[in-house]
This record gives sequence, structure tokens and C-alpha cells, in this order.
Amino acid sequence: MNNAYPSSNQLEPAAIAARIDRPLVLVGLMGVGKSTIGRRLAGALDRSFVDADEEIERAADRSVSEIFEEHGEAYFRDGERRVIARLMEEGHGVIATGGGAFVDAETRALVLEQGIAIWLDCDLDTLVERTSRKNTRPLLKTGDPREILFNLKEQRSPAYSQAQIHVVTDDGPHEATVARILQELAAWQ
Ligand code: S3P
Repeated sequence: MNNAYPSSNQLEPAAIAARIDRPLVLVGLMGVGKSTIGRRLAGALDRSFVDADEEIERAADRSVSEIFEEHGEAYFRDGERRVIARLMEEGHGVIATGGGAFVDAETRALVLEQGIAIWLDCDLDTLVERTSRKNTRPLLKTGDPREILFNLKEQRSPAYSQAQIHVVTDDGPHEATVARILQELAAWQ
């Protein structure tokens, strides 16, 4: 029994985990907290966690910024598509994806067919504030981050909205977001 998440539609995390036979894939914009929440969600469900951007960096032996600088975005997207396909096959419990991954039609179809996509969503101010803490995101270096994030939110929301589960996060504790996801998973058939 895990007292940190007691009220997920009466189902304890272990009971929820037992019902889920496919990877949980966190999607959504940069700064929404996919990696942080993903790690905690995996911990709550006692499943493995993997971060797709870290796997891309490992495979390329370069940071995401370096891949963008040296080879451009299209090259990064090709690698991202291949790495996520591999991660889906490997049967990880929880996969955090980079913000553009689920916008790719091929990756989206794969995730929707073989996994459960969870769209983490929050307001623009929060995204701007959180992404300002790190300087590692190449797409935000090309102009005003707020304007870029606003435009990406507009462009990408139709893709993100195809996720099976949608959870809106706020500035509250991560446990609250994890509890919300568990609640959605408990109700998920
Ligand atoms: C990107 C998001 C980043 C990373 C790359 C591109 C995007 O991941 O994959 O910088 O297109 O939104 P995070 O969402 O983890 O920041």
C-alpha cells in the first residue's frame, strides 16, 4: 500500500500497474514536466522509466543542442523517431518524450497503438517560467521564448489532444499531478 497516492478511484498504484500492459508515454510541450512527472509516476507504479531525449543523446553521443547545431532539426527528428520506436519495443514502464515527438505522425500512431499517451498540459506562463531555468533547448534560442512557446502550443495541441489521457498540471506539488494521472489510469479501460 502506498499512502502517498491513496485516492485514485479506490485503486492502489499496484492494482493500477497490474492492469496496464503497455508503456505509458508522456507527451506535451517543453517545460511541462514530462521527465520529472514521468520518473515519479514510474516510481509510484514500480515500473521502469526512460527519458527519450537522454536516449537520443546517448545514441548520438551528443547533446540535443549539439545535434541541432551540427545536423539540423530534420536529422534530430529522424533519430528521435527511431529511438522512440526502439523504446516502445523494449517494453519500458514509463517513457518521457521530447516535446516534438508526438507531433510526428509515425511516432504518434505507434504510441497510440502500442502505448497509452498521457498529454501533460499547463498554461503558457508556467511553461515560460520553467523553460527559462535551463538553456538547453535549441528551439527556444531562435527568438522570444514566450512567442515560440505560444506558437508551438497552437500548432501542436491538435496532435497532443489525440493522447488517450489529458492531464492539466499547475504549480502545485508533483505528487498532485501523479495522483491525477493515476486517477485517469484507474478509470482507463
Ligand atoms: C523539443 C523538445 C525538447 C527536445 C528538443 C526539441 C521540441 O524536449 O526534444 O529540444 O520540439 O519541443 P523537452 O520537451 O523534454 O524539453
